[in-house]
Amino acid sequence: MAQQPQVKYRNDYAAPAFLIDRVDLSFDIEDDATRVHARLVVTRNDKAARQDDLVLDGSAALVAVTLDGERLDESGYALADEQLTVRGVPDSFILEVETEIDPAANTSLMGLYASNGNLFTQCEPEGFRKITYYLDRPDVMAKFTTTIMADKHKFPVLLSNGNKVGEGMVDKKRHWVKWVDPYKKPSYLFALVAGKLTALKDKFVTMRGREVALEIWTEPADQDKTQHAMESLKHSMKWDEQRFGLEYDLDIYMIVAVGDFNMGAMENKGLNVFNTKYVLARKDTATDADFQGVERVIGHEYFHNWTGNRVTCRDWFQLSLKEGLTVFRDQEFGADMSSRAVKRIEDVKGLRAHQFPEDAGPTSHPIRPDSYIEMNNFYTMTVYEKGAEVVRMYHTLLGEAGFRKGMDLYFKRHDGQAVTCDDFRAAMADANDVDLGQFGLWYSQAGTPVLSVSGRYDSVARSYTLNVRQSCPPTPGQELKQPFHIPLALGLVGADGADLPLQLEGEAEAQGGTRVLDVKAAEQSFTFVGVPTEPVPSLLRGFSAPVKLDFDWRDDQLAFLMANDSDSFSRWEAGQTLAERLFKQLLATLAAGGELKLPETFVAAFRAVLKDHVADPAFKALMLALPSEAEILEMVEVADPASIHQVRDFVLDELAQALRGEWREAYELSQTRDYKPQDAGKRDLKNRALAMLNRLDDAWPAEAAAKQCREADNMTDQMGAMLALRDRDGAERDDCFTAFASRWQGDALVMDKFFMLVASSQLPGTLEHVQAAMQHPAFTLKNPNKARALIGTFGANMALFHAADGSGYRFLADQVLALDAINPQVASRIVNAFRRLKKLEPARQALMREQLQRLAGQPLSKDVYEIVSKILEA
Ligand code: TRP
Ligand code: ZN
Repeated sequence: MAQQPQVKYRNDYAAPAFLIDRVDLSFDIEDDATRVHARLVVTRNDKAARQDDLVLDGSAALVAVTLDGERLDESGYALADEQLTVRGVPDSFILEVETEIDPAANTSLMGLYASNGNLFTQCEPEGFRKITYYLDRPDVMAKFTTTIMADKHKFPVLLSNGNKVGEGMVDKKRHWVKWVDPYKKPSYLFALVAGKLTALKDKFVTMRGREVALEIWTEPADQDKTQHAMESLKHSMKWDEQRFGLEYDLDIYMIVAVGDFNMGAMENKGLNVFNTKYVLARKDTATDADFQGVERVIGHEYFHNWTGNRVTCRDWFQLSLKEGLTVFRDQEFGADMSSRAVKRIEDVKGLRAHQFPEDAGPTSHPIRPDSYIEMNNFYTMTVYEKGAEVVRMYHTLLGEAGFRKGMDLYFKRHDGQAVTCDDFRAAMADANDVDLGQFGLWYSQAGTPVLSVSGRYDSVARSYTLNVRQSCPPTPGQELKQPFHIPLALGLVGADGADLPLQLEGEAEAQGGTRVLDVKAAEQSFTFVGVPTEPVPSLLRGFSAPVKLDFDWRDDQLAFLMANDSDSFSRWEAGQTLAERLFKQLLATLAAGGELKLPETFVAAFRAVLKDHVADPAFKALMLALPSEAEILEMVEVADPASIHQVRDFVLDELAQALRGEWREAYELSQTRDYKPQDAGKRDLKNRALAMLNRLDDAWPAEAAAKQCREADNMTDQMGAMLALRDRDGAERDDCFTAFASRWQGDALVMDKFFMLVASSQLPGTLEHVQAAMQHPAFTLKNPNKARALIGTFGANMALFHAADGSGYRFLADQVLALDAINPQVASRIVNAFRRLKKLEPARQALMREQLQRLAGQPLSKDVYEIVSKILEA
């Protein structure tokens, strides 16, 4: 990077010097280019420091600028550093800007771009400036109209935000359509779609009886995969009315699916644009997890209509205001639609595997960051998932009714505004008349706090005292932290497995099973009285705060909680804690050259789960899932990926061996007849069992998997069979994989699954297979889903990516460079595979550093530069 990119700081925020009330856009789509005419109604903002010149953001080729009808020449404006400065403007005026853009050449997939011959936009966060010159910041909100002109044969469908108000022919070949969005919005919510598309149509009647047209647009060949998305949309609309009293506000809601997309989906007002991955689902092409993903993302984007669009962000540092809140809402939607217990465990597992590493590494940042080089790098697990945990903590502290009061006040105060995270916190505090001052530290301090808890039972006083200490490790730029306000949900479990009533010292009477303690100091004690016998504490129930918990349970107490805790999250968590201890012990044994042995207590705990024929199979499947390698890496000080892999493999092999009868029984008892969505848990359990059985040398599990591979009528079982065979060399694997790739070569999303399987294999030749797969006709680095499926998955393959000879690191660096030239946003996600540099043992650290330095010596995008330099500087 020749020139140091500029850092933007949260504290530099200043209100915009000008406001834009209205924008009239017209797009003239031609074969070789698109002409964009923007007519802006601009006024000077009397609430901001006066500026004589209007400075607009933009990088499109400028054709003409007109001020109040007069064409400006170069004395009236200046173009430099992606900004257009219009000199000495009056207090209110009309500015017309004409630009020319080339969507077909746009591989960044930001701004207006082509995908399979159709045109789409992506404007969040700063893509609108690639279309025209504008005040491209979320606190400038305007009413938009959009007129689109294009060849009617090539682009029969022309969509934009709001309601369609007119259409007609321009000439014999070209047609036009005009859209009006009655709501003020920031430029990042603008959208346009043009192409050959067809829609699944339906309608929804809102709680006040208004009829809303629902349309899901796809390429014609994909129409038969949109039913589930439509159902999910209707469920989302209903749910937001019932749970939050929030109603949709336009006459039409459109979703458009596109195969080339940088992220999951985008909440553009009235016109969501989605990655096909989160729209298309049919039982033979999508797994149960994919169906769930569609429902979650459809919900997420729909919920943004209130939390994001009606109330938006003042500046991009406030991103978690809309994302943390909307993720919390989509999680709650998911919980209400299926199993709350299972959903919570899945979400926490994801947080630990992906957000905890981020928060412990070189790119750690608070959910409301203080600075950035490239905003696209801050659509992170921290802003989204930890942000959702922070919102959940309000809910835990205030209860459902208190939380709802806070939400109601938030909308009452801020509908139609661009606001900050502090405004949200103030609404929660004011609506409930509580002090949430200290709670604000969750927004400003990064890192995962640690709660070290100890318990002491006094049999004479019949009291139980918990001592709670909190700390938070240093993160880049934040050496010392102040104590957080942490809701600690807990119960005390009696010898019979039931919760004891809880009465804190000084309280008049006992209350029921679970209660939430306010932990606020660095060290604090809580004494419960009237405790008849020594209890087993069940701590951090429901994962009431995004922290690491340390408590000195005995192994038999953990097994007891696994079997008895009334909180299903804590039952699962007790098993995870046992597993964590086991992995730490085994890693120490391995490092000392000792012999690995699996304790019988651990086998017994697994046996008990497998033998439990009452539990929900989805919950059982989670109980049987060990922490992932990524999670184990976070448990140790210095990581040797090979040992982590070896130890986890050892435990899985031993469990397969010791419980072979139980796995077989689980496999057989969980067979399902024809495909029903509600059997997802059973399928999960069955396929886990099949994978375990394929760790044995026995021939029959491979044959069973091969049969399942040939005969499955749904993608979950198809993938289950392939996963079971993935790491097992032999004819069954080869046949199954070959048949799959040839059957599905024409289906992009299914081929992504194939590439994921190739890149996640543990077999020694995997890097060569990945390189070969890059030559497959269905693969291209230009498609983000493909790049993520093959290259991204390889970067998460512990054994192969961290190969001792450095081949994995070299390969990944090569791909990052190739991708950076095409799509910096995607390249910068993939380069994150290097972020655990500092945690690695010295030999691998040196090899990885070599590749990072090689990258740093090349010309890089801002996106990749920011991540690489943070990793190297930490
Ligand atoms: N706001 C979108 C969401 O949370 C995600 C998003 C942000 C996005 N930037 C993007 C999507 C760029 C695609 C490309 O749902
Ligand atoms: Zn979002």
